[in-house]
Amino acid sequence: MTARADFNDRMLSLGLARVAEQAAIATVNLIGRGDEKAADQAAVNAMRQQLNLLDIAGVVVIGEGERDEAPMLYIGEEVGTGTGPGVDIALDPLEGTTLTAKDMPNALTVIAMGPRGSMLHAPDVYMEKLAIGPGFAEGLVTLDMSPRERVTALAKVKGCSPSDITVCVLERPRHEDMIAEIRSTGAAIRLITDGDVAGVMHCAEPHLTGIDMYMGTGGAPEGVLAAAALKCMGGQIQGRLLFRNDDEKGRAAKAGITDLDKIYSRDEMVTQDVIFAATGVTTGSLLAGIKREVGFYTTETLLMRSKTGSVRRMTYRNPTN
Ligand code: FBP
Repeated sequence: MTARADFNDRMLSLGLARVAEQAAIATVNLIGRGDEKAADQAAVNAMRQQLNLLDIAGVVVIGEGERDEAPMLYIGEEVGTGTGPGVDIALDPLEGTTLTAKDMPNALTVIAMGPRGSMLHAPDVYMEKLAIGPGFAEGLVTLDMSPRERVTALAKVKGCSPSDITVCVLERPRHEDMIAEIRSTGAAIRLITDGDVAGVMHCAEPHLTGIDMYMGTGGAPEGVLAAAALKCMGGQIQGRLLFRNDDEKGRAAKAGITDLDKIYSRDEMVTQDVIFAATGVTTGSLLAGIKREVGFYTTETLLMRSKTGSVRRMTYRNPTN
């Protein structure tokens, strides 16, 4: 039997949703409490505990960092009962630790799972990213184009003016020149303070989010998670790893990456069918955050399978005791 046949994505998907839900619920008393680390740790603990209940022989390929730096859910950590299919797991137990600590929109728990070897083992370095939604020719916009060329190309095929395009960008000093160039085309920019997995995912549903394109530099692990999401929802993402020093290049070597300048397409970051789950921690444009009611917490989870293109939004009501 092949690894793909072994990966029972249909059956595993509900288990994956539970993992995302429980990680989100674990943060409930840390939302808006100003403690990023505690919120992250709570999500990590819960995610790990839930993953270990699943009948999988899982390996974390995108995780909380290197084994010697991260006590739990480090890259290479084995999770699950060990009795099921061999799977690779990419996770970010709390995507938007600062958003959570400040109770700002779009903090999520995020996890993707696929057969062994299905996801790029991206080291914990930066990645330059570019994403657009579904329905466009592959390579319509590329990382080799200038921001102006990207906006102009997208506007042309959409049959609109650049001023009708909205680009989502992480608000960082490193993006100042890019922001100025995008604005010089007439396009609008939706600035986000954190959370570029959600930023990229917004491109998949421009009619709902108002975002046509994502561009800029953020975490490489988040790039692979966003690629997994777009593989399910539709849409393009390209990513190029960026290295600031030899230590970071060493991380790439350890992950088996030899071409340091390579531009990865979505399907090179995620090479086989995957399942993806994200639960809202704070309410945002993608998902509702955790709601407290007397005796219950309610969460909203996005659960997707790339094999079928199915996208579920699931509401979960869980007693607090
Ligand atoms: P954390 O949840 O780990 O804090 O990451 C949030 C985030 O905004 C990511 O979405 C993004 O990819 C990355 O940080 C950007 O890194 P930096 O804050 O160094 O610019």
